[in-house]
This record gives sequence, structure tokens and C-alpha cells, in this order.
Amino acid sequence: MAKIIAIATWDFGKAAVAKSGEILATGGTAIDAVEKGINVAELDTNIVSVGYGGMPNATGEMEFDAAIMNGRTHAVGSVATLTGYSRPISVARAVMEKCQHSMLVGDGARKFATEQGFAIEETLSEESKKKYSLWLADKNAKPEFMHDTIGLLAMDCRGELVAGCSTSGMAFKHPGRVGDSPLIGSGLYADIEAGAAAATGNGDEILKFCMSFLTVEFMRNGDSAMQACQNVIKRFVAQHPEKINEDVNLIALSADGHYGAATLRDSFAFGLWDGAQARCQSVKRI
Ligand code: GLY
Repeated sequence: MAKIIAIATWDFGKAAVAKSGEILATGGTAIDAVEKGINVAELDTNIVSVGYGGMPNATGEMEFDAAIMNGRTHAVGSVATLTGYSRPISVARAVMEKCQHSMLVGDGARKFATEQGFAIEETLSEESKKKYSLWLADKNAKPEFMHDTIGLLAMDCRGELVAGCSTSGMAFKHPGRVGDSPLIGSGLYADIEAGAAAATGNGDEILKFCMSFLTVEFMRNGDSAMQACQNVIKRFVAQHPEKINEDVNLIALSADGHYGAATLRDSFAFGLWDGAQARCQSVKRI
């Protein structure tokens, strides 16, 4: 039997992988583990950068980015600047499974979600509205969490490997701004032969290096999951030493089920479930 494991970004990833673990431990699929795990974060009102209650854009509207990728079939589903639905990862999964295309954006993504039977929901919490009003009053007063995506990677008992991510994107972004999260290869990537990776942090930097794809390629070339994450960040800093304090963070799972993470922060927490209890771990700045 394959190693069953789930890893997710940030400390809030612990509750997400606890859900993934429930699914994986009872023989469930990696695709369900990723979707349902991410749904936990999307619906948690205390998480202010993902799903319901996330961070609105510069006009006060919530625009979500999300994507999912199957490492065996390389099937992908992605939505960008999606409005009106609090579980964008579920809409991304519907794109993967029910749409002839790979990625839908804006009004088209919203129309597709409606066609698939998703009910329109309120996505702004009172807290989101308050944070937006504070920002309008003082645009220099940036919130603590500017762009903290949930990325979740899971391997199931059949050896299937899936990556997913979901975010409201950079707080107070220009309407229409798309970050790394819905871009296959940037916010996430999965290939059963090499591994899976997801990124979180400043998507405008992450997407320039296709950081998740690069992490998977480093694993394909022999790096462990930990080394691959570190080597991507080292390359970024080697080429841009002026960005040494940029918010760039990665998690990875190798094809044989080992995990890794790396960060340019002082420390970066992630949630891990590997057969026992979900727990939080962290890595220090490389
Ligand atoms: N990493 C999320 C974003 O920048 O949109």
C-alpha cells in the first residue's frame, strides 16, 4: 500500500489536513482529501485570506483564485477572479471533471458555477468589510495577512497524488489581478512520477519562476522534497538578492510520500497528517 499523507500551508493547514486524514484513513481518494480539506479553510471565518471572510479587492469585492491538479492524469481545473462562491476549490474541481476547458475566469467562471448548481453565497464577512473600510481610510495600514493561500497536497492508499490551492488573493488587489494560485505550475503542480508542490506568499513573485513546477522538476532530478523547496528559493534569491525578504514559501511531497517545505520568512508553519494525528510543523528561513 502507498504511503498516505497530506500536507497543507500555514498553521491553519492543520485543521485542513485533519479533514484530509479522515478521508485518506478510510480509503478515500486524494482528490476528495484535497477538496474537502481545503473546504475546511474556505469556510472557516477565522481564516482571513481564503474563502468566506477573505480579503476583498480594491473595490471591496471578493475575487477568488483556486486550482486542483491530478498527478496521474495531469487533469487540471482552475478558476480565477471568481465571485459569489465561498468554496472556489469545489468549482475548480468541477471545471476539472465537467468542463472541456482547464481554466475559467471572472464572469465565465461564475456562469459555469451556476450551471453546475453551486448556490450564490455571501463571501464578505463583517470582518472583511471592516478591514476594507480601514484600508480605504488609510491605504498604508496593511493587514498582517496580505496573501496567505491554502495549498494542500495529498497521496492516497492507491498512490494517487493530487495538489490543490485556494485564496482570496492579495488583499485590496486591483480588480482582475490573478496571482500564482490558479496558474498551473506556479501555485501548484503534481506529477505522479516526480511529486507535488504548492506555493504561498507573494504570487506576483512566485509566478515569475513557476515555483511549484520547478520544485517538482528538482524532485524529478533527484532532490528530496525538502531540498527541492530549498533549491527553488535559493535560485530565486541568487537571481534577485534584493528580494531576500520577499514572502515566498513552498511545500512539497515526493513521489515516495516524503514531505518538505522552505521559506524566506523567519519561520513558516504547515499542517501535516501522515497516519496519526494532524499536527503543525515549521521550517526556519533557509
Ligand atoms: N499567493 C496568493 C496570491 O498572491 O494571490
